Amino acid sequence: MNRIFRQVRYISLRSRSLSGHSEGQQNNLIKLTWKRLKDGNSITTDGWVGMNIMRSAQRAGIELEGSCEGVCACCTCHVILEDDVFDALETPEEIEEDMLDQAFGLKETSRLGCQITLTKEHDGMVVTIPAATRNFYVDGHVPQPH
Ligand code: FES
Repeated sequence: MNRIFRQVRYISLRSRSLSGHSEGQQNNLIKLTWKRLKDGNSITTDGWVGMNIMRSAQRAGIELEGSCEGVCACCTCHVILEDDVFDALETPEEIEEDMLDQAFGLKETSRLGCQITLTKEHDGMVVTIPAATRNFYVDGHVPQPH
């Protein structure tokens, strides 16, 4: 019994990297650079493949609202993407376009962060966060990330 326990523990410890992430987590990590138009600062963080841009921002401690929790009922997760990233995405659904029409500082490459799922191809991309958001969902409500 003790031998089995030691083997399981050994395998478990081996699967962890020095940074504290398991190999599975490491494989799902990419780098994202967040450019804030509010103050002109940029910061690079981890991003998580399979997670949407809004949740990845929140998980990395980046200030990006998501008042409707990602159900496409607000525009507080509005981000501006690089041309090539934007062009590679599927066309937004009509509901996303309707919400984007309400967004502050709309650009040709604007999208809702909650509607874009990160992939390995997004590694190294720059996500621009507009200087302001228009929160009409619940005034002032900023949900905590899960
Ligand atoms: S969080 Fe509301 S549309 Fe993205």
